[in-house]
Amino acid sequence: MSTPETTLRQAQSPTGAPTRTAHHRRYLMCKPEFFTVNYSINPWMEPAKPTDTAKAVAQWQKLYDLYLELGHEVELIEPLAGYPDMVYTANGGFLIDGRAYVPKFRFEERAGEAPAFAEWFRAAGYDTIIPEEVNEGEGDFLLVGDVILAGTGFRSTGDSHREVGEVFGREVVSLNLVDPRFYHLDTAIAVLDPVQGAENGGPEHANIAYLPGAFDDASRAVLEERFPDAILVSDEDGSVFGLNSASDGYNVIISPRAKGFEVQLRDRGYNPILIDLSELLLGGGGIKCCTLELRGAK
Ligand code: ARG
Repeated sequence: MSTPETTLRQAQSPTGAPTRTAHHRRYLMCKPEFFTVNYSINPWMEPAKPTDTAKAVAQWQKLYDLYLELGHEVELIEPLAGYPDMVYTANGGFLIDGRAYVPKFRFEERAGEAPAFAEWFRAAGYDTIIPEEVNEGEGDFLLVGDVILAGTGFRSTGDSHREVGEVFGREVVSLNLVDPRFYHLDTAIAVLDPVQGAENGGPEHANIAYLPGAFDDASRAVLEERFPDAILVSDEDGSVFGLNSASDGYNVIISPRAKGFEVQLRDRGYNPILIDLSELLLGGGGIKCCTLELRGAK
């Protein structure tokens, strides 16, 4: 039997850290068949630098295979020629309880992806909501327990925070991003335990890891207050996209360059697994960017 919260495996940390439980996930990914960097909409993208599409596909394939090995489900959306950033499916929407809030991209270069994602959600049986406000999906909206953490400053607008709150009827916590390298919220925060302990019957609570320097003082204060046990990641690990990771509550897939974060995770009883997406980093994206969580029934 496979329900969204089915326990896949459990582990007891040797250091006496809490027991972590892996939860079943359903993801949407897009093979980077048309990956290249031929425009620049974030500081990582340098069109003059050569890219290797075959290498991008091979690295992406490792992430895809790993999700399946871990027992997760992965759906695929057909890549569109002329949309090299479509591999970053996290920007393709934000889904909770079988409802899909569609993106409205900040830049013209990605605008054509939105109808393709909307069509995929419709065909997959999601109740699909077309937005009024500029928003880049799970790149800027992270569900932590019952609360939506929402980023603004570079891509999604503050108005989209209000809209996403109305759409899902949940509390939204707005956070201001201030460093252009960390232009989406999922480059500065990793959700480690997306499921609340209470719903789950487990001892864990929804926790996060974050890069303090990516936020303004007010947002940092909010994070400190809400998540006193958060893992604070070093600038060194943050700047190699260490936080752009995917967790199932036990297995946390991270960049092999995020050495300190790997140790921090292990100390807390998580199981870091290293996947190198160096080629996709040339587009300014990492593991989480290539992963959209499909929450709710098909
Ligand atoms: N080149 C893409 C852009 O600038 C990268 C998107 C990364 N996605 C993410 N969820 N952080 O839009």
